[in-house]
Amino acid sequence: MPTRTPLIAGNWKMYKTVTEAVATATELVGRVADADDVEIMVAPSFTALAAVASALAGSRIALGGQNLHWESEGAFTGEVSAPMLVSAGCSHVIIGHSERRQYFGETDETVNRRIRAALDAGLVPVFCVGETEAQRESGETFSVLDKQVQMGLEGFSLNELTGLVIAYEPVWAIGTGKTANREQAQEVHRFIRELIEESFSIDLANAVRILYGGSVKPDNAADLMAMDDIDGALVGGASLKAETFSQIVNFKRSL
Ligand code: PGA
Repeated sequence: MPTRTPLIAGNWKMYKTVTEAVATATELVGRVADADDVEIMVAPSFTALAAVASALAGSRIALGGQNLHWESEGAFTGEVSAPMLVSAGCSHVIIGHSERRQYFGETDETVNRRIRAALDAGLVPVFCVGETEAQRESGETFSVLDKQVQMGLEGFSLNELTGLVIAYEPVWAIGTGKTANREQAQEVHRFIRELIEESFSIDLANAVRILYGGSVKPDNAADLMAMDDIDGALVGGASLKAETFSQIVNFKRSL
């Protein structure tokens, strides 16, 4: 059984001013100081990145962006590039979140270009995939995921993808309080891992971390994380408070 260090990532979405973000980050540093068996990442808004980087300096918490543009610079008003994220202190970046796909025209092609930009800049992509409720109900879950994963990772070499993180986030479970039950999540995580094995290699499939996202809370985290192919969580709502996020980070203690 391969061992993969769990990654617990917080997606702060469009919440928190700079002051609020720094306060949460500072509180979090203290609360997770002993959690040495998990990796931790938070993704504040762009405006708070540099200040949160300072608040996290010397801690075990990594910093991530919530999106990036595929070009490194240019006349693209309102966009932020991979080198800009790196210079603000990021080591990770969330790519293809369903809210980007739903509201901002993100496609599998643009996701692929963004993953390319992240890897070229040395950022760890947290590549999000997931089906909608209608797709699940019409039995398309696996075909949708197959397409998202294959197109998102098209054209990459095995070596480039070392360190890749995938987040399975069923759209119907995001911010709704509905969580995929752990068997449903495990089934999809297994499917994604097998896709990576078929398209790349068994070693990459065993190494890639597949996070679950969608209404992860302190009271369901340990249960989800106990499944063989669930290697961590991408947490939205419950990551906004240091107290609840740190309870998820410390999920092993509730086992
Ligand atoms: P949620 O969000 O935990 O609030 O459901 C998860 C996400 O969108 O990453």
